[in-house]
Amino acid sequence: ADPDPLQDFCVADKSANSISVNGFPCKPASKVSSDDFFFDGLTKVGDTSNIFGSIVTGGNVDNFPALNTLGISMNRVDFAPGGLNPPHSHPRATESGVVIDGQVLVGFVTTGNVYHSKVLNAGQMFVIPRGLVHFQKNVGVGKAFIITAFNSQLPGAVVLPFTLFASTPSIPDDVLTRAFQVEEKVVEFIKSKFSS
Ligand code: GLV
Ligand code: MN
Repeated sequence: ADPDPLQDFCVADKSANSISVNGFPCKPASKVSSDDFFFDGLTKVGDTSNIFGSIVTGGNVDNFPALNTLGISMNRVDFAPGGLNPPHSHPRATESGVVIDGQVLVGFVTTGNVYHSKVLNAGQMFVIPRGLVHFQKNVGVGKAFIITAFNSQLPGAVVLPFTLFASTPSIPDDVLTRAFQVEEKVVEFIKSKFSS
């Protein structure tokens, strides 16, 4: 979904913070080395000790600057047993993914409100069309992990529980009580789950 590159590469220069562009300015070619094009960040098992029992490790332009202008990125998602990568969407990318280890329920909902889902084992792949709300849940016996890939250097993530119940400042309770057809105490209770 990102624009096409206009040169072989444009390794992001994260220190060039005096100008704002769509993406990042390029590091001078004379300062680019082989190391720029390799990234170890997805080798480590993520720490899943949080309320959801899952953790996303990003391999996007923020930590792998060589992706700048190339329109792709990847994540690693680790799951504790029963862990959930909560419902979210990516405003700038379609996502594909493959289960590397474990057994994972993958689901998404279309703009027509149709739910598509399947339980996948190692080696099996899925696709989430751009912008649609989706989740993954570890439904196997042990830990699980998946690798995901995006057609954006920075797909972005709108994580629904945080977006709706943990924004700064908060969405007013009367908006959420009307939207979800519940009492204010229910909204307050959900909000309390996300306040640190
Ligand atoms: C999984 O949905 C991911 O965004 O990496
Ligand atoms: Mn996703």
